Amino acid sequence: MKNRKIIGVGYQVGNKCVKNKEFEKIIDTTDEWILSRTGIKTRYVSTNKNTSELGFLAAKKAILNANISKEEIDLIIVATITPDNTTPSCSCLIQDKLGLNKKKIMAFDINAACTGFVYALQVASYMLSDYKCALVIGVDVNSKIVDYTDRNTCILFGDGAGAIIMKQEDTNNEMIHYANSIGDHEGFLSASGLVIHEKLENASREIGFIKQNGSEVFRFAVGALEEAISEVLKKANKTLDEIDYVIPHQANIRIIDNVAKKINLNKNKLYINLDKYGNTTAGSIPIALSEAITKDIVKEGMKIILVGFGGGFTYAASYIEL
Ligand code: COA
Repeated sequence: MKNRKIIGVGYQVGNKCVKNKEFEKIIDTTDEWILSRTGIKTRYVSTNKNTSELGFLAAKKAILNANISKEEIDLIIVATITPDNTTPSCSCLIQDKLGLNKKKIMAFDINAACTGFVYALQVASYMLSDYKCALVIGVDVNSKIVDYTDRNTCILFGDGAGAIIMKQEDTNNEMIHYANSIGDHEGFLSASGLVIHEKLENASREIGFIKQNGSEVFRFAVGALEEAISEVLKKANKTLDEIDYVIPHQANIRIIDNVAKKINLNKNKLYINLDKYGNTTAGSIPIALSEAITKDIVKEGMKIILVGFGGGFTYAASYIEL
């Protein structure tokens, strides 16, 4: 698919840095265990901003980075599993925060857990014939649904948002997508409903919490990432050697290392920031993409793959010529 281009990126993580050591005070764990089993050192929790606010801050940065007038936006898609409300959607709330209520805009949310941003990017790119300028956001305030007494889960997650502006443009650059889902694994990874925004210290509710079987999710993730990367390469008629960067979902460094080993991917081609931010669910891939572009590591002219897996189970990859 040609004639669509990512022209701006931005991200925003939660305000409060939580180091591994702090978990030693609330659960039976150690800094050393968390680092060696996950690769995570810190994560950022949002104690003062809900999902739409983090998404809005990332969106503002992406609009600035794209150097467009916000009035050009006619499509807003937000990927999240932790929306402020069931309705209005985060995308409508962000439309309002951006002051775009008088603009004719299609705005809606997508729930595909950690794959959410890649799904949203794919949907937006398919829609960019009727629409001209899409704001696509992946955002989660996981601290609303993390059980801070569950040591298998709570150490993994952080809060954050990443946003892109993608425009219809006259370009020969390719964008090729692959997506899949398997709906019968609810027992391995689920969150049953929404809870109000609570601070890390006060989180004590059970309803809505993420529940997972870590090792089953791990096993699934390795196979899903491997499948998504090889299928998108096949569709794009490319080999891994031709790819400059792979930006994977930032869940656990051991998952990523396993995949890299299986497909013979040079680790220098991976962009990793999970050591700082942990797993920010739908925020993970767009935060990594935005950070890599902001740091001038991933640049115009490069060929990249975004690849994610998550609850559902869902998984997807996009091959993008920047
Ligand atoms: N601190 C110390 N010990 C811990 C721990 C923690 N934070 N969490 C789990 N353990 C323990 C387990 O209770 C278990 O103890 P046991 O043998 O006495 O029962 C032991 O460590 C090994 O558990 P296991 O689940 O095999 O560990 P693991 O190496 O698979 O790591 C995860 C656990 C959760 C870190 C890992 O499985 C994982 O990251 N899975 C993927 C999860 C994910 O990405 N979820 C989001 C999907 S988008």
